[in-house]
Amino acid sequence: MAVVNATQMAHKFILPRLANATLVIDATAGNGNDTLFLAKNSSAETTVWAFDIQPHAIANTRLLLEKHDFSHKVRLILDNHANIANYISHPIDIAMFNLGYLPGGDHSKNTCPETTLQALKQTLQLITVGGLLTIATYPGYEHGKMETAAVHQYLTTLPQQTFTVASWTMVNQVNSPPVLYIIEKRRSE
Ligand SMILES: C[S@@+](CC[C@H](N)C(=O)[O-])C[C@H]1O[C@@H](n2cnc3c(N)ncnc32)[C@H](O)[C@@H]1O
Repeated sequence: MAVVNATQMAHKFILPRLANATLVIDATAGNGNDTLFLAKNSSAETTVWAFDIQPHAIANTRLLLEKHDFSHKVRLILDNHANIANYISHPIDIAMFNLGYLPGGDHSKNTCPETTLQALKQTLQLITVGGLLTIATYPGYEHGKMETAAVHQYLTTLPQQTFTVASWTMVNQVNSPPVLYIIEKRRSE
């Protein structure tokens, strides 16, 4: 298996589980690449919910999905992922959080630790046993460093009987490379 970047690594973990997933979340739709990956590789019965706070991110994602003919499987939500529980009450099989800002977009529209943690808590409440959540964080700039620390700290509090929590990063890259967290729910609380 080739060593790749944090997002591609997240895809590698998620891919084998998509065929049996019913409800999947992309918590940060951005340009729609992850949303498309989730829609394309899941079954016809899967619904993907994709959230973003920026109208043009939602518009870009819509365009990409239309281009590849996957719009019918995706619910696009222009809202903060801190409100996930307002939209979803069914069990979640897979959730992807690709944090930070939209590449080529407004860098001030970062994900922020407070709402990220709210969204993570809501998602973990709903995740199924055997379900997977991935979080890509970007400690290479000041805000991302703070957010990575907050996410890391929160994840250390998850009980190991219930969740397996792992992390992946490059160890020989300059400038604090991205970190991928992989969380699997092992059993009900
Ligand atoms: C790194 S980009 C996501 C990349 C995307 N998954 C893709 O495949 O192109 C981060 C995105 O998170 C969005 N975002 C920031 N804060 C958010 C929040 N509280 N809720 C939902 N989306 C948020 C930004 O608008 C941005 O589009």
